[in-house]
Formats: sequence, C-alpha cells, structure tokens
Amino acid sequence: MLVLSGVGPRIEPPEGLRLEGLLGRGAHGTVFAARCPRRGPLALKLGRPGDPLAPFLAEARCMGAVSHPRVPRVVDVSRTGRGTPYLMMQRAPGRSLRPLLPRLSRRRATALVDDLLGVLTEVHASGIVHCDVKASNLRVAEGEVWLLDFGIARRGARRWTRQERARGTPAYMAPEQLEGRRVDARTDLYAVGVLLYRAWFGVLPFPREGFGLLRRKRRALYVPPSIRDPRFEPADDLFRRLLAGSARARLASARKARAALATIRRRLPRTILACAPDGEPSATRRTRHTLETHPA
Ligand SMILES: Nc1ncnc2c1ncn2[C@@H]1O[C@H](COP(=O)(O)OP(=O)(O)OP(=O)(O)O)[C@@H](O)[C@H]1O
Ligand SMILES: [Mg+2]
Repeated sequence: MLVLSGVGPRIEPPEGLRLEGLLGRGAHGTVFAARCPRRGPLALKLGRPGDPLAPFLAEARCMGAVSHPRVPRVVDVSRTGRGTPYLMMQRAPGRSLRPLLPRLSRRRATALVDDLLGVLTEVHASGIVHCDVKASNLRVAEGEVWLLDFGIARRGARRWTRQERARGTPAYMAPEQLEGRRVDARTDLYAVGVLLYRAWFGVLPFPREGFGLLRRKRRALYVPPSIRDPRFEPADDLFRRLLAGSARARLASARKARAALATIRRRLPRTILACAPDGEPSATRRTRHTLETHPA
C-alpha cells in the first residue's frame, strides 16, 4: 500500500503497479501517474471503495473501440483487492491544454484543433461519440493532441440515463446533448466550435452565466467573429456551421470541418493568427519553450 501526500486516504494500487503522482482529479475518479515494469508509463483512474464498476467498464469499452495512436490504450479495468474500481490505461505524455490555451497564438491553437479533428475522425469512424471535448480533456505533446476522458462517451444511439445527463460540461454541450436526445459526430463538432471560439477570442461563445443557456444555444445567440473584429469575417460561416443549434445545420463530419478550417486559415490575415487572444504575439514562442522544458 502506498500513501501519496495530499491525496487524502491511503491508496491501494493494483498489484505490480507503482504510483508516481497525481495527474488529475475528476468528478468520477482520481487519476494517478503509475508505472509498471512491463508496460511503462500508465495512468490509473481510481474510483472510491464500493463505487460501481459499470461506468469504468463503459469508459473502457468506448476507449478500447478506438484505435488511434493518441487515444490511450486500455490496459485493464477491474477492482482492487479492497473493491475500488479502476481503469488502467496508457499514460498520455505532454501537458493539459487547459492552462496553455489562453497563451497560445491563434495559429498554434488552430493547428491543435485541426489535429483534434483528425483524432475525432477516427473516433467517429469507430462508432463512438466522445461527448466531453474540452481543453481539460486534451493533452498536448510535441504539437499533437491526445484525447482523454471517455467517461460519458456513447456507442450507438443508447439513451441517456439521468446520471449521465448530469455529467458533461454545459458550456461545451450541444443542445441535443443538453436535452438528453440522440447525439452523433455533429455533437462533438459543436464542442470543437466552442473550443476554437474560446481559443481565438479568449471567451466562451455561450457563457454559463445569464439567462437560458439552452435557449441561447438553440438560437445560436453568440457574438459572431466579425462583430468581435471585422478582420474575422471569413470565419463567420465556419462558426455558423459548428455552433448551429440544430445538428442538421452543422458540418456533417470532422473531415469536412477540417477542410473548412483549412480554407479559413488561409483567408485570415497573418497578423491576427500570430496573436494570442490577449493580443500578445510572443506567446507562441514562450509556450513552445514551456512545452519542451516541462514534459509532464
Ligand atoms: N491517460 C491519461 N494520461 C495522462 N493524463 C490523464 C489520463 N487520463 C486522465 N488524465 C488526467 O487526469 C484528469 C482527470 O481525468 P478524467 O478527465 O478522465 O477524469 P473525470 O473524472 O472523467 O473528469 P471530469 O468528469 O471532471 O472531466 C484529466 O484532465 C487529465 O489531465
Ligand atoms: Mg475530464
């Protein structure tokens, strides 16, 4: 048994596993960096003693259905000797995108979103909808994006349970997901639209505060890029087709979104792409330095 300072109770890792530190604390488990002599760096998502195993199994099934080099491989899902459910998986290198995002130049953030769309193409081709795409579920290593946290991912048209509906991140969720209706690839593209908007403008298109989040989302009541800054006019259509309230009005696939993003990237002035949302052109260099010197 191992005691990690600052993580509260005594942690009992599955046999043969050495815990190396805390990677993150989510709503449904604590994620530790772990190492196994045979398998190298791993991540261990650990529930609480007595928690049901089913959500861990569901997450493992969705993750295991996808074969992409930047979706962690599932190694094991089970209970420890004391009955604590766990999911053991390949450890994603790099750093969480969340603290990096505000400092990234738009060019670099756009390249990461483009890469994410490549990962999502594979996820969707495997019949999975992720349903929780956001910066804190992404890691960046050597300019590439790893997609994590398949905790509420869906396979097929299964209905949402009430508990599942309560999970997820309202600011990123498409109307159909907020309403517990059927989701598909276009639901993830909506979240990509929210992520890109935040990366470019430093704010959410639909802040959680204020009246009627769902109503604002259904009617796509956000400030279009060209109103924020007329130089973004070529991007209005892209956001219209990512953040449409109705899935039917959105781009149909991650592949199409990638192509549309590439076109817009060419049409936007270089000067605005070189800046971070706070207008600081040197952020890209600083962030690259951070990424190289602090690989987590
Ligand atoms: N395979 C992994 N490799 C590296 N880090 C990971 C891995 N899986 C999770 N993490 C880290 O742990 C954090 C929490 O994991 P995860 O998002 O899966 O938990 P969660 O309980 O579903 O969280 P929440 O519901 O709050 O989004 C992530 O944000 C990420 O930083
Ligand atoms: Mg998470």
